[in-house]
Amino acid sequence: MSQLRSVVLGCGSYLPARILSNDELARSVETTDEWIVQRTGIRERHIAAPGELTSDLALAAAKAALANAHVDASSIDLIVLGTSTPDQTFPATAVTVQAGLGITQGAAFDVQAVCSGFVYALTVADSMLRTGTAKRALVIGAETFSRILDWNDRTTCVLFGDGAGAWVLEAQEQPGTSADRGILTTHLRSDGRHRSKLYVDGGVSSTQTTGHLRMEGKEVFKHAVAMITDVITDAFNATGYTAADIDWFVPHQANKRIIDGSAHKLGIAPDKVVMTVDRHGNTSAASIPLALADAVADRRIKRGNLILLEAMGGGFTWGSVLLRW
Ligand code: UT7
Repeated sequence: MSQLRSVVLGCGSYLPARILSNDELARSVETTDEWIVQRTGIRERHIAAPGELTSDLALAAAKAALANAHVDASSIDLIVLGTSTPDQTFPATAVTVQAGLGITQGAAFDVQAVCSGFVYALTVADSMLRTGTAKRALVIGAETFSRILDWNDRTTCVLFGDGAGAWVLEAQEQPGTSADRGILTTHLRSDGRHRSKLYVDGGVSSTQTTGHLRMEGKEVFKHAVAMITDVITDAFNATGYTAADIDWFVPHQANKRIIDGSAHKLGIAPDKVVMTVDRHGNTSAASIPLALADAVADRRIKRGNLILLEAMGGGFTWGSVLLRW
């Protein structure tokens, strides 16, 4: 029986011009390029310019995605933006993007699930597309984590970067099999008992300040591979696909060791893994669409490919998406 699926029409990304290398960082905090590369795989990250906002990054990525999809902004009736670094407490950064694109119809809102933000935003948009609530969606992950870093804390400031990525998705009738194009399955999880392992020590109702990112890195690391592989196993069980069927694994880019460990445990070959953590650092909700746009631009990812996404981050939140490009 035919089925409505959320099919990706195009994607795009944006990185701020300024690149901050490990060596440059090592001049302001007690660290080395060698330590950062060995523990994380990160070599450099992009940093937003003064006055360059999350919405600016998101808007640039959205415009690139619309151009790549060959669709007009006026046809978009849903914008879901994953971010933990919004321009303001309210309104949602998504409505600033909506206004920037000249869209006056449909709905636009933010989703806050930290590093899992893109997977969460995609899942919400997929649900709305499949139920007919919207027809054509922009899903964006955009962050300016540089604004919430404690630049004196070497255990966190070396890890993160700024950027944005966006997809255009459309509800399309598909035959209703696992060979369909579009999103085939999504799985979201969270467990708030872990919320103090990765958090920002400020907020509207608590301190009335923005605060800085704090993380028990080892604790996050300890849980990451198990949580990621668990939720990917759910995606395999739901579709009947296995690791051998995956054309491209596009994981959240937090740490090369976590990505390698997850791929190894699942039996996904290293040459199927899209890795950008070396050049982008951890861009939280932006990392998956940034990595994916890279692999589309250099023609690794092609139409018909089976793509596996996963993310894990603050909350903890985690999730997976399996789709056919
Ligand atoms: O997006 C999802 C959320 N985030 C993550 O997924 C991150 C998860 N965690 C990690 O990626 C890793 O835990 C880190 C990369 C953050 C840290 O790696 P680690 O292997 O767990 O190192 P560690 O925290 O155990 O620190 C080892 C040593 C410590 O020194 P001592 O106590 O052994 O003397 C740290 O003080 O490395 C020291 N250290 C550093 N040294 C140089 C910590 N940060 C740095 C640094 N440069 N930047």
